[in-house]
Amino acid sequence: MIRLTPWRHPLSATVTVPGDKSLTHRGILFAAVASGVSRVTGWLDAQDTRSSLRLVQQLGVEVKELTPETLVLESPGLFGLREPEDVVDCGNSGTTIRLAAGLVSAVPGLTVFTGDVSLRKRPMRRVLEPLASLGVRSLARQDGYAPFAVAGGPHQGGTVEMTVASAQVKSSLLLAGLSASDPLTVREPVASRDHTERLLAYLGVPIRVTGTTVTVEPVSRVDPLDFAVPGDPSSAAFWAALAALLPDSRLYLPHLLLNPTRTGFFQVLERMGASVRSTVVQTAPEMVGDVEILPGRLTATRVTAEDVPSLIDEIPLVALLATQAEGVTEIQGAHELRVKESDRIQVTADILSRMGAAVEPRPDGFRIEGPTRLKGAEIDAHGDHRMAMLAAVAAAIADGETVIHGAEAVAISYPGFMAQYAQNAGR
Ligand code: S3P
Repeated sequence: MIRLTPWRHPLSATVTVPGDKSLTHRGILFAAVASGVSRVTGWLDAQDTRSSLRLVQQLGVEVKELTPETLVLESPGLFGLREPEDVVDCGNSGTTIRLAAGLVSAVPGLTVFTGDVSLRKRPMRRVLEPLASLGVRSLARQDGYAPFAVAGGPHQGGTVEMTVASAQVKSSLLLAGLSASDPLTVREPVASRDHTERLLAYLGVPIRVTGTTVTVEPVSRVDPLDFAVPGDPSSAAFWAALAALLPDSRLYLPHLLLNPTRTGFFQVLERMGASVRSTVVQTAPEMVGDVEILPGRLTATRVTAEDVPSLIDEIPLVALLATQAEGVTEIQGAHELRVKESDRIQVTADILSRMGAAVEPRPDGFRIEGPTRLKGAEIDAHGDHRMAMLAAVAAAIADGETVIHGAEAVAISYPGFMAQYAQNAGR
């Protein structure tokens, strides 16, 4: 439990955020696919990415070096991975469990997956069913929840039409495609983050992307990877929201991942009236750059299904900004938020309503009327890292004290968040 009081000053700072979570997971999993010694620098060391690390170790990957900056892994390669001796516990990490379900289709024998209380309530049919259409056998609990088991072995390619825009599902299938007997094509309804495609191409895997259709060819061997992870825009978004909400702020966020499939939040922030300036410093394999945020008068906006994948994890922050914006903000097409680490539509609406905002949860989003003054309240983060950080940002502009229960959940994606928050708040 933590107690927070409002900030009485702007956020005028340079904030360096930890490495991107999605890219760190992929760095670790692709190091397992590659044969030999791979290096991932700037990695995110957090509970979620440790779940991916444990998984690859159970599959026979050796950790050669682990420092706050560098991770060096040695793998026998995709076709040398071995059946885990015990159940693989993926903790809270949806990315680990879903991507690994596809990866282990190449591993002879049985891989049994489980996770924490939240992960065991998240839908897994969305990966197990399309994997089954390729001939990958699995068994899951009723309703398709973990624990589930995947039996590795021969399977084919083909074409899969995805029904949800999900990078986790797409990536799981593409990983299974690497060990299929023929090419695999995956089609998404709306483009989701494309890190897997970019990294596979960077590794020299034959992969073609046309619009929202991706085709990957089977491989016999993948060369080791040497990959630098830039800062996580989803972690940076909490600071960007703080700067947009605290008058006279000036925030500088150096070296962020600026892949266009991830920067929807910055676009919405700008649309709502903040000033967002970015300078690109690298374009391949991922776009990287520095971002500067200045506050402005906030006005309501509309977020639609097409926008959603590029800011899926940041939508709760848009809801918070909307409580301080002039007019009615509507967020639609975001039903996926209901099956994240918590039901983020309900939990966000509960947090903001308790703090005095006019928020109406909808099956696929929110209707928010602003501006309203927020007041401190007692908040339950529901074990969800992003809900705890959302409440901390809201507390900075609320009147009175805010108490957050379950704030330790931030360690899932951003272990240093509360220390950095206290340092900037105490200025
Ligand atoms: C992720 C994809 C998103 C996102 C999650 C990380 C990834 O999930 O919410 O935090 O690394 O591929 P979905 O692909 O299920 O939307």
